[in-house]
Amino acid sequence: MNLILMGLPGAGKGTQAERIVEKYGLPHISTGDMFRAAIKEETELGKKAKSYMDAGELVPDDVTIGIVRERLGKADCQKGFLLDGFPRTTAQAEALDNLLADMGRQIDAVLYIDVDRDSLLERLTGRRICSQCGATYHITLNPPKEEGVCDKCGGELFQRDDDKIETVKTRLEVNEKQQKPLLDFYNKKNCLQEIDGNQDIDDVFASIERVLGGLPA
Ligand code: AP5
Ligand code: ZN
Repeated sequence: MNLILMGLPGAGKGTQAERIVEKYGLPHISTGDMFRAAIKEETELGKKAKSYMDAGELVPDDVTIGIVRERLGKADCQKGFLLDGFPRTTAQAEALDNLLADMGRQIDAVLYIDVDRDSLLERLTGRRICSQCGATYHITLNPPKEEGVCDKCGGELFQRDDDKIETVKTRLEVNEKQQKPLLDFYNKKNCLQEIDGNQDIDDVFASIERVLGGLPA
């Protein structure tokens, strides 16, 4: 399966990706995670991405397309992949189409997780992430058993720099503007699958399982 997870910041892409990967065994390709890893390791890519991410703006298309091209060329993507947070602009979507055509592949489904805007603000500002395994929590909506500590590995939880309220507002505005034409793009290709993201995490996943179960084999 070649899948795309789409949704505004905080829609639950990362949360659902963890589950999809566990059940279907697809490699998880999150451009946001790749940029954050590059920033941590202080690579050239990290230096290019940092100022955009800190401001809540999109990293330029050529940089983003470049890292996805390289990643999709890796052996583990032969059996399929789950793209999370890419494409985010029409230029990225067109570049992805060309890339997949070269590989003789195509997208099977675009899972678009739709969530009310007010919930997105609450979800983003209350999000906490494990510093060791990357698991995602929320201080009230999806809290760990012990405050500040990861259930899975005991790691310390932290807040992403771009989850502070001012940056969150910019991220939502920037992404809302880009999202509409992208939804049209995939709607025209008949691969857009809308998922109601205003449900419990388990119910959102059940909706995704239903969609994936209905795809042609
Ligand atoms: P990225 O890391 O992709 O961030 P994002 O798109 O802003 O999405 P998030 O990771 O913030 O949210 P999510 O949808 O994964 O939600 P989550 O599951 O964590 O990108 C970061 C930056 O990198 C961008 O701003 C940009 O600068 C750059 N970038 C990345 N890709 C790019 C691209 N293609 N082009 C250009 N630039 C790019 O959930 C959020 C919270 O809600 C959590 O606390 C979770 O526990 C909770 N939650 C989740 N689901 C539910 C539910 N159903 N009910 C209640 N709470 C829930
Ligand atoms: Zn952990």
